[in-house]
Amino acid sequence: MNPAPNLILVGPMGAGKTSIGKRVAERFGLVFVDVDQVIVDRAGASIPALFEHVGEAGFREREKSVLGDLLSGAGQLLSTGGGSVLDADNRDRMRQRGYVVYLRVGVEAQLRRLGRCTNRPLLQRPDREQVLHEMAVLREPLYRDVADLTLDTDGLTPPEATARLIQSLAHRWRPIEEDA
Ligand code: S3P
Repeated sequence: MNPAPNLILVGPMGAGKTSIGKRVAERFGLVFVDVDQVIVDRAGASIPALFEHVGEAGFREREKSVLGDLLSGAGQLLSTGGGSVLDADNRDRMRQRGYVVYLRVGVEAQLRRLGRCTNRPLLQRPDREQVLHEMAVLREPLYRDVADLTLDTDGLTPPEATARLIQSLAHRWRPIEEDA
């Protein structure tokens, strides 16, 4: 058993962090928080607008600040942006404040699930597949490094992945009681 005040989902775009996260949060009585949504709400600007006006570096600063604030709370399921593991402080803080689940997905399934999405600035280019491969090479070791548990979502529907994750978590994780 590995007690921690929060559950944290990490993994690449299209891994299902939001759809699976919402269901898992409901099951364990946690507050579901989409970290990207909090960044958007605080900035009053969409993710593409943020990338346009402050660049990826400016977005990462906001991501780090929001994540840090959220992680001081408890009783939450945090669905994090795919690039949040790039920062070593973010990874340390996630480990300290949460039980971290890596939702893995291969590039083929990512391309299928993401379709023609337009709200992910890093994918607004013709060589999407290449970009996703490069991201996977860079980030996969970081996801593995930070995670307490990995679930491969390739070939699973969101309800199937959710059921598996709930089953695994029931044996491995329980919330620390802290004031949220
Ligand atoms: C990003 C992933 C996005 C979002 C931003 C950057 C990334 O979140 O934070 O577009 O670097 O992989 P999702 O993983 O929720 O799509």
